[in-house]
Amino acid sequence: MLLLAIVALGVPLALNLSARVNAEVRTQAQGQADLVAATAADLLDPRHRATLTSLANSSANSIRGRVLIVDSNAQVLVDSGSPPQIGQSYESRQEIESALDGHQVQLQRYSRTLRQEILATAVPIIRNGTTVGAVRVTQSVAALNAAVHRVQFSLGLIALIVLALGLAAGALIAAQVGRPLKRLEEVARRVAHGDLSARAELEGSREQRSLAGSFNEMTDRIARLLHAQRNFVADASHQLRTPLTGLRLRLEEANAVGPGPAAAEIDAAIGEVDRLSHTVEELLVLSRGGERQIAGGPIDLGELAASALHRWEAKAQQTGHRLELRAQDEGGLAWAARLDIDRALDALIENALQYSAPGTTVTIVGSVGAVEVMDRGPGLAEDERAVVFERFRRGRSGRSGPQGSGLGLSIARELTRAWGGEVSLADRPGGGTIATLTLPRLSDGGAADTQPRAQADAEDRFAPA
Ligand SMILES: Nc1ncnc2c1ncn2[C@@H]1O[C@H](COP(=O)(O)OP(=O)(O)OP(=O)(O)O)[C@@H](O)[C@H]1O
Ligand SMILES: [Mg+2]
Repeated sequence: MLLLAIVALGVPLALNLSARVNAEVRTQAQGQADLVAATAADLLDPRHRATLTSLANSSANSIRGRVLIVDSNAQVLVDSGSPPQIGQSYESRQEIESALDGHQVQLQRYSRTLRQEILATAVPIIRNGTTVGAVRVTQSVAALNAAVHRVQFSLGLIALIVLALGLAAGALIAAQVGRPLKRLEEVARRVAHGDLSARAELEGSREQRSLAGSFNEMTDRIARLLHAQRNFVADASHQLRTPLTGLRLRLEEANAVGPGPAAAEIDAAIGEVDRLSHTVEELLVLSRGGERQIAGGPIDLGELAASALHRWEAKAQQTGHRLELRAQDEGGLAWAARLDIDRALDALIENALQYSAPGTTVTIVGSVGAVEVMDRGPGLAEDERAVVFERFRRGRSGRSGPQGSGLGLSIARELTRAWGGEVSLADRPGGGTIATLTLPRLSDGGAADTQPRAQADAEDRFAPA
């Protein structure tokens, strides 16, 4: 835009100025020739030769050219050039011939003597009505062009300086306008990543401040709603825990009285109560996600896998599974809260034991940056794999198999993502499922130690029953 304005203004200006310089030089030459001719009319007598010479010289100086005076026979009387061509005949010069014929001329022609283009202006010297001689002023066209080029160059330079200043000013203004928006974008990204404490600064233009204000209001509202929702779930789960424990105790007591007609029903009721308690526990964990600060630490994934094997060995025996550990490499170090990752891994192992047939083997593999839990169960259909991570979503194996609430995988994913990791499910070659928990390696700079995390109590962990 600025460039366009400079070109639109500068080009006509440069052309106009060049034309004016050209016209000015020509008018000046004509004026000087006229002046010298008028003065010389009375000085043609040889007595006045010195005066005539100095007149020609000073005139030549003022127009930076050469002034030549000839008599009526075209013989040179005075010449400001060096060496002066006094006495020579200039009859052959076209402009001298025209001037001696009584005409004023100005023409541009090639001078064979000087070997360049010249601008020649010639006027007759008239005395008492007759032409007694002529004055010729010559200037180099190259010098004239140089003057025009100098004007054009100066204009170009000015245009460049204006352009540079304009661009610098533009960049400055753009930066000033863009900075608040960029900062707002950063804050929006932090909020999108779950940091609801991030607030935008009220800065920039009125519209920008208003936008930042609305953004903060929206974030406040989301934070309040989320807090209220988590509080509600946490309170409800807490309230449910005690009566559930009481209910289980009473059912057990009823069973302990002796085998009665309702024994089978009571056993089933205890199973239902256990399932409900499990769901309540899981809801409690989810409600605490991101609520309190929990410190991260270095975690050796190989050791993490080994201790998980230890925790689940007894349960695997009960369900009739072989549980084996395979360590690949050293496991590698990651940064996270141990309780969170233990809990996430527990959900994966629990699924492997729940959804694969007794007698099969469940393998836990600690590798660099990841822990895998592999089973020989039915696997998951393509369409199931994405949705089973949603809360309360159960897959085909879940619905047709053991009881569960559909929260295990969403808890595992939420806890792992809080530390920059991920949980995913894949088909296992030869049948079965591979559940993978990845965490950024400590050396990758993926430490998520600043992340706010739920302070999981020991009770949060759902240890194998
Ligand atoms: N290893 C696996 N093999 C086959 N299906 C699986 C496996 N792991 C998970 N699934 C499927 O994914 C669904 C969701 O699992 P998720 O752990 O979230 O809930 P759940 O096991 O049903 O209940 P719970 O909350 O008690 O864990 C399961 O119902 C099951 O269909
Ligand atoms: Mg599960």
